Amino acid sequence: MHPMLNTAVKAARRAGNLILRYIDQLERLSIETKGRGDFVSEVDRAAEEAIIHVIRSGYPNHAILAEESGQQPGNEYQWIIDPLDGTTNFLHGYPQFAVSIALERNRRLEQAVVFDPLRNEIFTASRGGGAQLNERRVRVSKVTRLEHALLGTGFPFKTHEHLETWINTFRELLTHSSGVRRAGSAALDLAHVACGRLDGFWEFGLSPWDMAAGALLIQEAGGLTGDFAGGPTFLQGGNIVAGNPKIYAEMLRRIQPYLPAGLT
Ligand code: IPD
Ligand code: CA
Ligand code: CA
Repeated sequence: MHPMLNTAVKAARRAGNLILRYIDQLERLSIETKGRGDFVSEVDRAAEEAIIHVIRSGYPNHAILAEESGQQPGNEYQWIIDPLDGTTNFLHGYPQFAVSIALERNRRLEQAVVFDPLRNEIFTASRGGGAQLNERRVRVSKVTRLEHALLGTGFPFKTHEHLETWINTFRELLTHSSGVRRAGSAALDLAHVACGRLDGFWEFGLSPWDMAAGALLIQEAGGLTGDFAGGPTFLQGGNIVAGNPKIYAEMLRRIQPYLPAGLT
């Protein structure tokens, strides 16, 4: 395993184990509201601190972009961290959340880890080295037709900016697929595309830390990721489509007619 991926795995496991220690004390947690429907708890912050501590001890000069503490400048390497993806689920004891850590070099994704502590599933990828689930190689699904595909999505709940557009895409994709799931952790949804449990995924208005690790997992598992124009700007723009190559293409074709001019 690449030494930087090894560090990411160590950090993700440490954060995941910390998160699990809080699971039977949920009613005692201190919780703040960052915005409408957007919460942060002491667990998010403690998990992020644990991750940054592990990374800093190995790589003190690397830059960091972390959801709760923001940006710390550094050299050409940047770690992109979501310490707890699926906070709302976690705070309700709904068992679907994950730790997500990616590493970019000169803005190119190089390493990725998504850790699901409840299932003890660790998804890993290094650029050019394929994607693994618990150290065994995984690939995207082989489903070729949208009508046979199971898709994931996220509701645009924080801002309603894209609500109408999302509803239109939802109607279109729901009526032309086998089903659509909204599980509540984008990072884990993307990991599930990488290992073929979902055939495709789309969401509007995400942040880089929701997507970075999951996107590299999918690319290394033989899938495709893009913005709604099929371009590479999803990390900056926040809108993502992902899937196995056939389902990705079909999803883009069905989503595009519903996009307002200029939205990618
Ligand atoms: C959220 C989850 C959710 C997605 C939201 C994200 P958080 O992340 O990934 O599935 O729909 O847009 O913000 O806030 O739980 O880290
Ligand atoms: Ca997140
Ligand atoms: Ca989070």
